[in-house]
Amino acid sequence: MCGIVGYVGTRQAAPILLSALSRLEYRGYDSAGIAVRDGAELAEVVKATGKLANLSMKVDGGKALKGFCGIGHTRWATHGEPSTTNAHPHVSGNCLGSGCGPVESDVVGVHNGIIENYQELKEKLLKHDYRFYSNTDTEVVIKLIDYYYKKYKLGPIDAINRTLVRVRGTYALEVMFKDYPDEIYVARKDAPIIIGTSAGESFIASDVPAIINYTQSVYYIDNLELARICAGSVHFYDLNGDEVPKEPTKVELSPQAAEKEGFEHFMMKEIHEQPRVVKDTLHSAIKDGSIHIDIDDEFLKKLSRIYIVGCGSAYHAGVVGQYVIERLTDVPVRVELASEFRYRKMPLAKDSLVILVSQSGETADTLAALRAAKEKSLFTYAIVNVVGSSIAREADSVFYTMAGPEIAVATTKAYSAQLIALYLLAIKLGTVRGSITDPKELVDEMETIPEKIEAILKERDRIQWFAAKFAHIKDAFFIGRGIDYASCLEGSLKMKEISYVHSEAYAAGELKHGTISLIEDGTLVIGVNTQDELFEKTLSNLVEVGSRGAYLAAITENGRYSMEDSVNFTVYTPRINEIFSASLTVIPMQLLGYYFAVARGLDVDKPRNLAKSVTVE
Ligand code: F6R
Repeated sequence: MCGIVGYVGTRQAAPILLSALSRLEYRGYDSAGIAVRDGAELAEVVKATGKLANLSMKVDGGKALKGFCGIGHTRWATHGEPSTTNAHPHVSGNCLGSGCGPVESDVVGVHNGIIENYQELKEKLLKHDYRFYSNTDTEVVIKLIDYYYKKYKLGPIDAINRTLVRVRGTYALEVMFKDYPDEIYVARKDAPIIIGTSAGESFIASDVPAIINYTQSVYYIDNLELARICAGSVHFYDLNGDEVPKEPTKVELSPQAAEKEGFEHFMMKEIHEQPRVVKDTLHSAIKDGSIHIDIDDEFLKKLSRIYIVGCGSAYHAGVVGQYVIERLTDVPVRVELASEFRYRKMPLAKDSLVILVSQSGETADTLAALRAAKEKSLFTYAIVNVVGSSIAREADSVFYTMAGPEIAVATTKAYSAQLIALYLLAIKLGTVRGSITDPKELVDEMETIPEKIEAILKERDRIQWFAAKFAHIKDAFFIGRGIDYASCLEGSLKMKEISYVHSEAYAAGELKHGTISLIEDGTLVIGVNTQDELFEKTLSNLVEVGSRGAYLAAITENGRYSMEDSVNFTVYTPRINEIFSASLTVIPMQLLGYYFAVARGLDVDKPRNLAKSVTVE
C-alpha cells in the first residue's frame, strides 16, 4: 500500500504535495518522493528514504522546488527494497539515487498497486533498448507508457490506454508528460484515487482526507477509467479514449478527522478494514480457482510434522491454525512461543515444516526461531505482513498478508489476515495429501467471511453499551473449547493490553482445575461457543461459573438462541463452517477491548509499555 498525491494550479505545488502526503503516511513510510514541473522546464525529482519528514527537510518544506504542477508518493515497498532509487516518482529515462534533480524524461509517474506481469513487460522493453535503474514494477509501467507514446504519437490518453491493456495487476497511476507541462494524467484499477477541484486548482490523492484542507468538491474515478487533470478542470475517459461525463460530489468530512479517515483511533479504523484485508489476503493466493502457495507439493505430501512459531497475537493465530490444520489434514501440529522455541532442546524431525508468523517480520524472538530452524536444515515458511522485512527475506518461502500498514499497537487486521493465510495452507495441505476432495467448497465458504465481518461490525453499539457498563471491572475471563479457546486467547489479550483490565483465557474444561476459585459475585466471564460437538459442554461450564456469581456474556452463532436463557448478555455472529469461526468471533472481542479502553479514558492506539515491533529479546 502506498499513498499518491498530485497538484496543478496557481500555487507552488511542492508544499501542497508535502502537506497532502503527510496525511497519507499511514499508507506507507519507508520512502517518499515528489516531482515538480515548472512550465516547459524539466521535471525536478527529489526522493528520500524513511519518513516524509526526511523528504520535507531535503526540500526545505517544499520551498526549494519551483513549479505549479507536481506529483508525490509515500511508499510501502512491494517490488524492490526501500531505497532512494526504488522510491517514486519513476521516470522514462534515468533516475538513479536520491534527488535526481532535473530529469531528462518524457514521462514521470507514481503508482500505488502491484503490476503482476512486470517481468514479462520488462523483457519486452529491454529488447527495445530501455534500461532500468530500479527494481520496481512502477518503472516498467512508466517506460511502457513512454514506449507507446513515442511509437504511436497519439497523445497521453492513447499511450496510457495501450499500456493498461498490457498490464495485469492493480494500479492507481499518476503520470506527467514533458510535452504537456500543465497537466497530470491518472488511471485506476482496484486501487483508490480521487480528484478534487476548486477555483483554478486541481488536487489528486489516494483518499479524501489528504486534500480535504483544500477542497470538498471531489470526483471519484471508476475502475478502468482515465483522467486528464488541468488547473481547475478534469476530463474523464474510458478505455476506448472516449470522454465520460462526470459530476463532482461534495464530501462532508472535517479536516481534523483526516488522518484516521473519520475514525477516532487507528485501532477502530483497522478493525473496520478487516473485510477488505481478508478479501485481499484470500485473493492474493487464489489463482485460476486454486490455492497458490510457494511450497513444493512433493514436500507437502511427505512432511511429517508442522511447527507454528510466533509471539503474542501471531502465536494466537498459530493456535487457531493448529486446530484447523489438524482438522483438515493428517499432519500433527505444534504451536510454539518463539521465545521458548529458540532455546528449546527438542528433537525436530527432518521432514518438518516450520511456519513463522509475524506482522512486522522483525520480531527478534521469531527471527531467532527462524534461524534456529534453518540451522537444523528445516524448511521455513513465513507468514508476514511487512514486505522485505528480515523474516520475509530469510525464510525459504514467504506468504505476504495483505493487511497494509498497521498503526495501532494492538493488532487487529494483521491477525485476521494471518488466520486466512493459515486456513489457505491447511486447505492446500489437505488437498495435496488427499484428505480434502473439494477445496473449492472451503474456499467459497472463506469468501463469505468479509461480508459476515461487516455484519458483526454493524452490531458495535451493543458492545459499546456493554463495555461502558462494565468498564470499572478488574478481572475478566474468556473461556471456550477447541477453536473457540484459541479465539479466546486473542480476545483476552485485546482486553488486557489496551484496557489494562486483568484478563485470562482458559480452556473451558480446565477452569475447574484451580482457577474457578477466583470466580466471585460479578466476575465477568465471556464464553465463546460456536463448535457443534462442544456447544453443550461449554454452555455447562458457563452455567457452572454463573451459579458461583459470575456475570456471563456469550459470543455464539445465530440460531443458537438457547444461550440467551443461560447467560446475561449475548452477541451473535453469522453462521459459518465452524472451522473458520475464529475469523468472526474475534471481531466482537476486538470491539470489546477497544470500547473498554475508550470507556476507561486510555490511549487506545499507544498502550503503555508496548511497541509495535519488538526487536529485542
Ligand atoms: C498484540 C500484538 C503483539 C504482536 C507480537 C508479535 O496486539 O500486536 O502481541 O502480535 O508482538 O509481533 P509480530 O507479529 O510483528 O511478530
